[in-house]
Amino acid sequence: MEKTFYIETFGCQMNAHDSEKVVGTLLHEGYTQVETVEAAHYVFYNTCSIRDKAEQKVFNRLQHFKRDAGKGKVFAVIGCVAQQEGEKIFDRAPHVSLVAGSASYTKLPQMLVQLEAGNKRVTGLSLDTDEAFDTPFTRRDNPHRAYITIIEGCDKSCSYCVVPFTRGPERSRTSASVMEEARRLTDSGYSEIQLLGQNVNSYRDPSAAGWDFATLLDRVGTVGGIRRVRFTTSHPRDFVKPIVDAIDSNPNLCNHVHLPVQSGSSRVLEGMQRLYTRDQYMERISWMKNARRPIAITSDIIVGFPGETEKDFEETLSLLDEIQYDSIFSFKYSQRPDTAALQMSDHIPEEEKTRRLTIVQEKQRAIQIRQNSALIGAVEEVNVEGRHEALGLWVGRTSRNRTLNFTHAGPETGAELLGKYVHVHVTRGGPNSLAGETVN
Ligand code: 5AD
Ligand code: SF4
Repeated sequence: MEKTFYIETFGCQMNAHDSEKVVGTLLHEGYTQVETVEAAHYVFYNTCSIRDKAEQKVFNRLQHFKRDAGKGKVFAVIGCVAQQEGEKIFDRAPHVSLVAGSASYTKLPQMLVQLEAGNKRVTGLSLDTDEAFDTPFTRRDNPHRAYITIIEGCDKSCSYCVVPFTRGPERSRTSASVMEEARRLTDSGYSEIQLLGQNVNSYRDPSAAGWDFATLLDRVGTVGGIRRVRFTTSHPRDFVKPIVDAIDSNPNLCNHVHLPVQSGSSRVLEGMQRLYTRDQYMERISWMKNARRPIAITSDIIVGFPGETEKDFEETLSLLDEIQYDSIFSFKYSQRPDTAALQMSDHIPEEEKTRRLTIVQEKQRAIQIRQNSALIGAVEEVNVEGRHEALGLWVGRTSRNRTLNFTHAGPETGAELLGKYVHVHVTRGGPNSLAGETVN
């Protein structure tokens, strides 16, 4: 029991990948991962603070298991809420013993030693580390698709966003270490790689090679054994045409770009300190719409930013009409500590934010139904990711990042089909996925 741990992860893919690194590090240190809080001695929550709701989740969990702390369980809060709230977490949840932000994970083994020694309050909150958390012990959750962090932190200062405070300034990894990790992954059977960073487009190789993001993307796409390369997240300000050219010329690079716009109103974009106008964003969209390969475009939208008028909101709706995104994530603006937008006047009432969110989501749903219906009859290559036993369906993902549920009449058993690339004839399209059957 003493050497067991449980970990629950909230938030984005950066956090999911951080957890893979934390798990790998803990296993290397001789700990055993268990599936329930009950079975664990150490309970880790890797937390997200992007919106208030995400932050509340961890405090709800801590509250729920409060009594267990008395029975010798050790609670650790790591990730973005840890970085943001720091030692205040000990006041809110006195049964927590470890609070550490992502920039301190390289020191995790030492922090664990302190916990082992019976230390009741251990913190790792420094943000001035030059090191990325680049560990050889990463325990990857998915056997076919692997994440590689290429850049940590964020140097932008969007007025609504807490990330620069929770993840610190930008630090890029050397291109040599990224390429080596990519080769190691394909050698051990991975065929899909997802390059990760808060803003991958501002990647700058710190070594003499000096690669920019487009070059790195292109080179990762040439590693032997690679079938698919994805990347997230992009910032429109740093998204340049050579990225589209790379996708256009290398079929191993997935034809999907997630390019968060946040708002269709240049006035709101200025208040958000996004550093681009609607027209500049549309120029980037036109590069993709004019590419030889059809590139799926997805986005993030915030409604109800302080001072957003009905007219501003309608500009977001007209942007959705104009672009016809393949999918979006949409959110109500949420006030975050330390951010510039907190000080702005004209905060929008909650009911109005809810109304605007519903309108955005209904509009986008109609767009997706149209887009997905237009794919009926097409044959798509999918990577087989899972099996829906109850429905008798396989679950795959297309290069354009659509989920395609399909039937397969062949003799393959689950183990043989998972991770494979098969061609599927699309027979139906819903708002969020496609359905079809394999072609022989
Ligand atoms: N309120 C609402 N949504 C936010 N996001 C980031 N900060 C906030 C906030 N304070 C959204 C943005 C970002 C996505 C990851 O989360 O749309 O692109
Ligand atoms: Fe990811 Fe940002 Fe949430 Fe941190 S705050 S987990 S970086 S989305």
